[in-house]
Amino acid sequence: MKTLKDKVAVVTGAAGGIGRALVQAFTAQGMQVVMAGINAERLTIAADEFRKKGSDVFVIETDVSRADQVAALAEKTIARYGAVHLLCNNAGVSYNSRSSWETPLAGWEWVLGVNLMGVVHGIHAFLPRMLEQEGAAHIINTASTSGLVMNSYAVPYGVSKHAVVALSESLHLELESCKANVGVSVLCPGPVDTEIVDSSYRNLPREVLPPGRSDEASLLEEAYRHYLRQGLSPDVVADQVLSAVKEKRFYILTHDYREAIETRMHNLLEEKNPEPSPPNPKLMEILESMLGS
Ligand SMILES: NC(=O)c1ccc[n+]([C@@H]2O[C@H](COP(=O)([O-])OP(=O)(O)OC[C@H]3O[C@@H](n4cnc5c(N)ncnc54)[C@H](O)[C@@H]3O)[C@@H](O)[C@H]2O)c1
Repeated sequence: MKTLKDKVAVVTGAAGGIGRALVQAFTAQGMQVVMAGINAERLTIAADEFRKKGSDVFVIETDVSRADQVAALAEKTIARYGAVHLLCNNAGVSYNSRSSWETPLAGWEWVLGVNLMGVVHGIHAFLPRMLEQEGAAHIINTASTSGLVMNSYAVPYGVSKHAVVALSESLHLELESCKANVGVSVLCPGPVDTEIVDSSYRNLPREVLPPGRSDEASLLEEAYRHYLRQGLSPDVVADQVLSAVKEKRFYILTHDYREAIETRMHNLLEEKNPEPSPPNPKLMEILESMLGS
């Protein structure tokens, strides 16, 4: 898509972090933006700030893990704007549980329900309409570098993000094979300065117990909070997304994870056993200073 002015975007998880930065970038291009998310109050506060700047934004409270709510989001968007040119399946949650076998099933279901089924619901509700309408359109699915390499912590999160990468790659092939006028990109951020750790706790459903954690895991989580604060600005990520949409580029890699990806692929091709990614020096530095203090 070359021109975005007067086109319509839908962003899920739009109240803060990367989603909010996407809304900022799209409205700056003259787009009309539907801000979707689970918390109407936070969305309204964010939307009011955009309206004050003269932007056309519209809030629709939506739980992306619920197919009926995402279908309603699509219907309301079409009823108001008549078309959807950009869909960002961005809403997501993190869940730092213990091992994969100790993670409660409700925790698995929650993470997969939001991070994976949220994207499936978005594609299911919006893509048929995007294929039917006139002109080009584009879908951006937010995965993570955790969708490109695997770790032994936050396993359900990594599994959900690998699935989003796989789904997006298949979708790209499907759309190419039918010469559709709809493109797709997968956004794989490394650390970005957002409040995902705290917003995920806030959104934890009542039936999903907070992950039981050892002292070691709690320390790692606190270190991770600090680490994200030193991460990339969400505005930079949003600019990278804009460029990818304009260039019709599939992979959006915000950080250089070449070494870890190469190691994984090399092991696969050589039929060698998986090995952990090298420890992140920045995260190690934060952990050491926390242990030292
Ligand atoms: N921050 C990072 O370092 C990082 C790295 C890689 C990937 N990501 C991914 O980026 C995306 C955005 O995360 P962020 O870092 O901006 O954090 P964030 O917490 O600011 O944004 C996530 C948004 O999703 C919303 N949300 C949660 N559950 C929802 C549901 N069921 N339905 C609708 N909305 C829901 C939250 O309320 C929040 O507004 C996520 O998919 C996340 O996994 C973030």
